[in-house]
Amino acid sequence: MLHFGSSRPPIKPMRSYRHSLKALRDIALANTLEKNPDLASISRELGAIIHRDASVLADGMADLRQRNRGFERWLLGRRGRPGVSVLVMAWPPGYTTPSHDHAGLWGIELSLYGALEVESWSRESTAQAWQLRGRDWLGPGDSTWFDADVPYMHRCRNLSRHETALTLHIYGGDLEDYATYEESESEPYWQSQPQRARIAGPLRV
Ligand SMILES: [Fe+2]
Repeated sequence: MLHFGSSRPPIKPMRSYRHSLKALRDIALANTLEKNPDLASISRELGAIIHRDASVLADGMADLRQRNRGFERWLLGRRGRPGVSVLVMAWPPGYTTPSHDHAGLWGIELSLYGALEVESWSRESTAQAWQLRGRDWLGPGDSTWFDADVPYMHRCRNLSRHETALTLHIYGGDLEDYATYEESESEPYWQSQPQRARIAGPLRV
């Protein structure tokens, strides 16, 4: 006997920001099991989810956008071997990082909410001067990435003067000790300063 069911499409459960953050974390962890992961393709995959869920993420993470506690790093996930850490960062209006390296780790940084300006420098070796490589503007879902063991640093700025920006960061290990660089008049033209990254807490999803 033929049965003619209802022609109504199945109702899709509404995706929450937690689902979305979990999906981002799981993709980041699942695609980084080898030493040199394909950063461009991981960035594309993460960017597509952020584009799709932009408004859900913005609404769901309103607390993080309204804390007014200054620049904060939240840990979304991590794995030991091979090392990977996944972080969400909150950027107060106009906040600019110093020029900084990432301790030789590979990394991907994406905007989740708001827009960042990223200025990047590289150099052939630590004996050489830093060369400005470019300036990028990242809106939600856009990313910048860098390979492991390549001398690289960047400076990032929240382009909004009114709103906190949120970003997603994936690094090939725990980024605890890194260095910031300040331009100087004389050689070597940049003075480095060791830094320690502080984590505000775990981001539970
Ligand atoms: Fe960075």
